[in-house]
Amino acid sequence: MADKTESAVYTHGHHASVLRSHSWRTALNSAAYILPHLKPDMEILDIGCGPGTITVDLANYVPQGHITGLEMAEGVLPQARALAEEKGVKNIDFVVGDANALSYPDQTFDLVLCHQVLQHVHDPIGILKEMHRVAKVGGIVAARESDYGAFIWYPSMDGLVEWQNMYDRIARNNGGEPNAGRMLHSWARQAGLTDVKCSTSTWCYSMKDEIAWWSDLWAERTLASSFATTAIDAKLATKDDLEKVARVWRKWGEEEDACNISPNSNPETQCEDLRKLEISLTIHENCCHRFGIVRMITGIHHINLLVPEGTLNDATEFYANTLGLTPVPVPHLQVGKIAWFNIGEAGGQQVHIAFGQNEPYSSRHPCFKLGSLEDLQTLQRKIWDHHLRGGKAAPKAVDQPGEENSGAKGVEYPTRFFARDYAGNRLEFTL
Ligand SMILES: C[S@@+](CC[C@H](N)C(=O)[O-])C[C@H]1O[C@@H](n2cnc3c(N)ncnc32)[C@H](O)[C@@H]1O
Repeated sequence: MADKTESAVYTHGHHASVLRSHSWRTALNSAAYILPHLKPDMEILDIGCGPGTITVDLANYVPQGHITGLEMAEGVLPQARALAEEKGVKNIDFVVGDANALSYPDQTFDLVLCHQVLQHVHDPIGILKEMHRVAKVGGIVAARESDYGAFIWYPSMDGLVEWQNMYDRIARNNGGEPNAGRMLHSWARQAGLTDVKCSTSTWCYSMKDEIAWWSDLWAERTLASSFATTAIDAKLATKDDLEKVARVWRKWGEEEDACNISPNSNPETQCEDLRKLEISLTIHENCCHRFGIVRMITGIHHINLLVPEGTLNDATEFYANTLGLTPVPVPHLQVGKIAWFNIGEAGGQQVHIAFGQNEPYSSRHPCFKLGSLEDLQTLQRKIWDHHLRGGKAAPKAVDQPGEENSGAKGVEYPTRFFARDYAGNRLEFTL
């Protein structure tokens, strides 16, 4: 029978130097892989939420839903609650709990996720089983974990490898698994999760201010956080060893071209068929995007479309529900005045909606690209159905599926169709 109370010691603890790095985390820099799956009315459980910056950020993606941040260390939760209050986020609560034994009934949440938690627990497979238990059928279980053994530094320095070995010894002594990243998909499979999709993403620190922040933070953590106490109490390092390693972190931080890459793996699984198993490993992000030196303009970030004032709900109904784009939070001061939607993967292109007047029947338009003829025809059918259904958010016009005497009669037919949204914006869809 698995131990249902956490017996591993959380290696970093919640010292200010630790919380400084956790508080930098956002949905976009730490949970981008899950954003395309979010729907506005989802119920989410974020396990081991710590100071809750990711949790609070995710709440903005589910304005009609709710997110619960669950955390074993009660002492960090006031900071999480204060952040939610400061940001005016209401669809959220933070609770104390142990992920080994969740108090929720089976099938409570649409999405159960954790970030940098499974590497610190004694039974990651048992926790994944708990996450699976409380996820609804059709819901998603997701995790993202670093792999300390795969950290890369430039320039390399002997003392940093010493730090890496020291970290490995201390984390294992605490009952954790510092190389969790490479094992996640295996743990997911052993926990009985199905349809596991595994991707990796990296944190890359190479800008001057990032390097200063990251090296200073690790130097301080090495000397002042629970990491230091454990190292000395368990006789895994001496004070001199720790001081030496802290000096090396600072020295590395002064290097002109310093760069640190921390790989993470992010499996996610849709709880649909309990038997199916499919694992694919894709690298969807790496450090190279930071060096836009050769080509300065790399693509289109967003297009801006105008709608009448007071119709942002209609924009969400059409652009999120009918077209399937993902709503993303807008800057705090512009809530209620604009809406943003991701096209495909987070970090890719977006549609921005703002208030304004369209000239009637303008031919100005964006053209959205679809992956297959089948997808194109399915979407056309969805837009057509919404047009027929009517309502405030209904598209004003769309080529009738299968009809050659519509606007689609051109040479592009059947690989392109045309529509106008409820505000008259012309939209094109193509392969
Ligand atoms: C590295 S922090 C990550 C915090 C947050 N997810 C983030 O990424 O900013 C790991 C957190 O997991 C919590 N934790 C560890 N074991 C846990 C367990 N069994 N149940 C709930 N929380 C746990 C720790 O207290 C700690 O706050």
